[in-house]
Amino acid sequence: MIDLKELIRQTIANKENAYAPYSHFRVSVSLVTKSGKVYKGVNIENASFSPTICGERSAIASAVSDGEKDFDIIIIAGDSDYTYPCGVCRQVMAEFFDEDTKIIIAKSEDDYKFYSLADLLPYGFGKDDLHV
Ligand code: THU
Repeated sequence: MIDLKELIRQTIANKENAYAPYSHFRVSVSLVTKSGKVYKGVNIENASFSPTICGERSAIASAVSDGEKDFDIIIIAGDSDYTYPCGVCRQVMAEFFDEDTKIIIAKSEDDYKFYSLADLLPYGFGKDDLHV
């Protein structure tokens, strides 16, 4: 059983590892698998801009690289009060998240909001569409 408040606190603290020398906007993510493992992600910017990877995709890439594809919770904490995932990250979430995956947008360990993928990506395109 994870301690949600503690994990939100750690997620916010890990913004210090964001590599955001261009935007100075830091994003930190914790991704919890259904088996209880936690993977971190931060945004990693690039001088050429387009190779920048968001914190969400960084965490998902780390987990998938470790053979994990079943996700229970994602916590997202950025430098705005409530940092919502960009469109590209929502699409990547749709590849791996199911209807039970909880998306937590955290302002602080006492102030956070829960969403489902359907809340954030209604009418999305997904793998089922390819079964033609
Ligand atoms: N960013 C994320 O990491 N996640 C989001 O959901 C929104 C944006 C990053 C990308 C870039 O490094 C910085 O925030 C400003 O866009």
